Amino acid sequence: MNWRALFKPSAKYSVIVLIVIGIVVGVVGYFATQQTLHATSTDEFCMTCHSNHSLKDEVLASPHGGGSAGITVQCQDCHLPHGPVDYLIKKIIVSKDLYGYLTIDGFNTQEWLDENRKEQADIALKYFKANDSANCQHCHTRIYENQPETMKKMAKRMHENNFKKAPEDRKTCVDCHKGVAHVYPKK
Ligand code: HEC
Ligand code: HEC
Ligand code: HEC
Ligand code: HEC
Repeated sequence: MNWRALFKPSAKYSVIVLIVIGIVVGVVGYFATQQTLHATSTDEFCMTCHSNHSLKDEVLASPHGGGSAGITVQCQDCHLPHGPVDYLIKKIIVSKDLYGYLTIDGFNTQEWLDENRKEQADIALKYFKANDSANCQHCHTRIYENQPETMKKMAKRMHENNFKKAPEDRKTCVDCHKGVAHVYPKK
């Protein structure tokens, strides 16, 4: 191709058209992906692969399953990030699960979960530790400052003491609170 042709009036026009089409396709594609990503973020989606695991029953039985507040926390509320970019990145990591699902023998069985729970729990915990339990803090916004009157004294004291420390010495939610939705395995 003769690149100089691009600068001829007619060619210039077609390049602009191409660019415009490119932008339109990009924008439409972006929103389409967002839509699919959100559609894939319901409990049902998670349960397509985890259907034989006791995970959902555990959540329902936990304080996050409705109880007195009448709120059932969804899988993705805890396990997927809120920012669109982080969301995509984590999704791509979750997509590795697709490979695991196809290759791990007997993955979607309770036996597999029971046998591998400790390892899986620690992978999950790593994510919470890496972002200072951002998902927890997204809902629990008054743990450290402006604590509610109704919070237990002991909880207040523990939280206050933790907050007094330098940020890098602070513990994160899941350091002190394990098994808030699933039984945290002892071994
Ligand atoms: C395509 C099947 C599939 C889907 C859909 C799926 N998972 Fe998984 N998940 C897996 C597999 C397989 C593993 C084990 C991965 C491994 O160890 O290689 C796993 C492991 C996990 C773990 C523990 C390890 C980690 O990465 O933290 C969590 C937490 C998890 N899944 C949460 C979810 C949530 C939340 C959803 C819904 C947004 C979901 N999964 C949807 C297949 C799936
Ligand atoms: C979608 C919002 C949401 C998310 C995300 C969330 N929580 Fe909660 N959490 C709640 C609600 C609602 C309750 C119940 C409050 C009540 O009953 O008064 C609760 C209760 C709790 C309790 C009290 C349990 C008890 O025994 O009464 C702890 C501890 C807790 N959450 C820690 C966490 C941690 C740690 C995370 C992150 C792994 C987290 N939460 C993520 C909404 C959320
Ligand atoms: C240094 C340890 C520690 C850290 C870090 C910590 N907590 Fe707690 N938290 C406690 C203790 C101890 C209690 C009281 C015992 C209990 O109720 O389980 C408590 C209680 C709670 C309660 C119940 C309060 C009530 O009175 O009903 C919630 C909700 C909670 N924590 C959420 C969080 C969240 C979210 C984070 C992270 C932002 C966090 N905690 C960080 C130790 C900690
Ligand atoms: C309130 C937050 C919360 C909700 C809701 C939640 N999880 Fe978890 N999940 C955690 C935390 C925190 C861990 C890390 C281990 C622990 O502390 O129990 C975990 C661990 C896991 C693991 C690793 C194995 C294990 O049992 O520890 C899997 C798989 C998993 N979650 C899947 C799910 C699925 C599927 C749902 C929805 C049915 C869900 N989670 C709902 C917070 C949550």
